[in-house]
Amino acid sequence: MSKVNAGILGTGHSYPEGILTNADLEKMVETSDEWITTRTGIKQRRKAAPNEYTSQFAVRASREAIERAGIDAAEIDLVLCATVTPDQILPSTACLIQAELGAHKAAAMDVVAACSGFLYGLSLANAMIRNGQSKYSLVIGAEILTRYVDYTDRATCVLFGDGAGAAVVGPVEADRGILAVRIRSDGRYEDQLYAPGGGTKGGFSAETIARGDHFFKMKGNELFKVAVRSMADISREVLDEAGLKTEDVKLFIPHQANQRITDAVANKLDVDDSIVYSNIAMHGNTSSASIPIGLDECVEAGRIQQGDIILMASFGGGVTWGGVVMRW
Ligand code: ACO
Repeated sequence: MSKVNAGILGTGHSYPEGILTNADLEKMVETSDEWITTRTGIKQRRKAAPNEYTSQFAVRASREAIERAGIDAAEIDLVLCATVTPDQILPSTACLIQAELGAHKAAAMDVVAACSGFLYGLSLANAMIRNGQSKYSLVIGAEILTRYVDYTDRATCVLFGDGAGAAVVGPVEADRGILAVRIRSDGRYEDQLYAPGGGTKGGFSAETIARGDHFFKMKGNELFKVAVRSMADISREVLDEAGLKTEDVKLFIPHQANQRITDAVANKLDVDDSIVYSNIAMHGNTSSASIPIGLDECVEAGRIQQGDIILMASFGGGVTWGGVVMRW
């Protein structure tokens, strides 16, 4: 292993213009702004237009991240796009992004780990940079989840939104950057959040589409408990590994799934609300995009100073989860 650490050199994010408010949803399903706000914290979410697709937002977020990193796209040697809502089955969305950006010498692939995809990507980029196989990696989380949401199912349609976030990851001094990272999964919980149609098992036909097999199905209640436990546990694990305590953390960016999940994780970790980032009210759950969007919003708001300890934790369908602690 080389002595090089991997750190985030630049971030960016992008959203569709379209907004779906709780008031809009009240007209579509039997729900209320009051129920959605108290059970989830969400007030609105972004929704892509029918002619918009995932890589468009990924490319906009990436261009911003590349510019802020002060590098040229041609210097990127690895493009990882975390998504469960790719432009198409083949080729990967990462390849489409790589071409659009002009990252001519980059390897490119998608990372399919639902809401944990960005932290999975960060973990892979970290390993590739540390072992000398990559100098500048571009890690993206990009989703158009609203395409896979059943707008007759009030239990899921209120939760999800669209967007993309990106980070350029590259070499930094040995005491900065990613200090510890862990990614995990447990496929025995696969039925807690899944879409059965469209693959080789469920197939695709007029019947599967009419049945809505391509839409997300979720056991929200059960996921809630696993989410809180796994995000809190992995946060402690990465902090321990880095030799840090929760008191050292200046900013905690958890995956934005539900304000009550965020509050419960913060409570379990015993961290003050003031260091916990939340944008769930404005954007809902954007899966793999939620952490990089949050990170970039914090950078833009001046909430991150050089030397700050930043903790990120995620949880998603699979189930998958992950934690990263870094010094900015
Ligand atoms: N409006 C009004 N009522 C509703 C709605 C709605 N939008 N949705 C459900 N309800 C009703 C239910 O039908 C139920 O009614 P009943 O008691 O008459 O049967 C009642 O509200 C309570 O339902 P619960 O499911 O118990 O509500 P809960 O408090 O658990 O909240 C929620 C549901 C918001 C889904 C919560 O469980 C949750 O956030 N879970 C985690 C989900 C999640 O984060 N998923 C994403 C994982 S990340 C990824 O990979 C994308």
